[in-house]
Amino acid sequence: MNIHNYEKIWLVLAVLLIAGFISTVTYGATAVGIQMVDDDGGTINASALDEDPRFAEPRVEKVGEDHYAAYVIARQFVFQPDPVTVPANSTVTFYVTSPDVIHGFEVVGTNANAMVVPGQVSKVTANVGEPGEYGILCNEYCGGGHHTMEGKLIVQPEDEYAQGGTTDG
Ligand code: CUA
Repeated sequence: MNIHNYEKIWLVLAVLLIAGFISTVTYGATAVGIQMVDDDGGTINASALDEDPRFAEPRVEKVGEDHYAAYVIARQFVFQPDPVTVPANSTVTFYVTSPDVIHGFEVVGTNANAMVVPGQVSKVTANVGEPGEYGILCNEYCGGGHHTMEGKLIVQPEDEYAQGGTTDG
């Protein structure tokens, strides 16, 4: 069988193209730090959040040097606590759960965006920089008040936060 040189060139190019596709997909999936929201927040009894040490009192807790944990309940049609207040230049890990239906938890302008499923704890981490305010949105349809379901993330100057801050703004 005789294969034309011209055809060989095309065969080689096609193989290179396939190799290129595979490597960019591999690179995108592994090398740039993209993470799927996983279930390592664990499961929880959705009808007994008030008996859970993390969610009985939704709050922000210091868990390390410049690292805070925010325990948030998304329910029809509010986020608790509201606002969520954290200090500037810190890492915040959000643990979010729902006692009723599926909600969304998106901190607008950050990478924090998760689906909130009753019985599961969604865990998502964001880094916050300068002081400011961010909207928290529910981006899953959850009932008649869905469009009103929003909260706020307040990033306070570190010294203000250390003094207990003005969380009732
Ligand atoms: Cu909660 Cu939409």
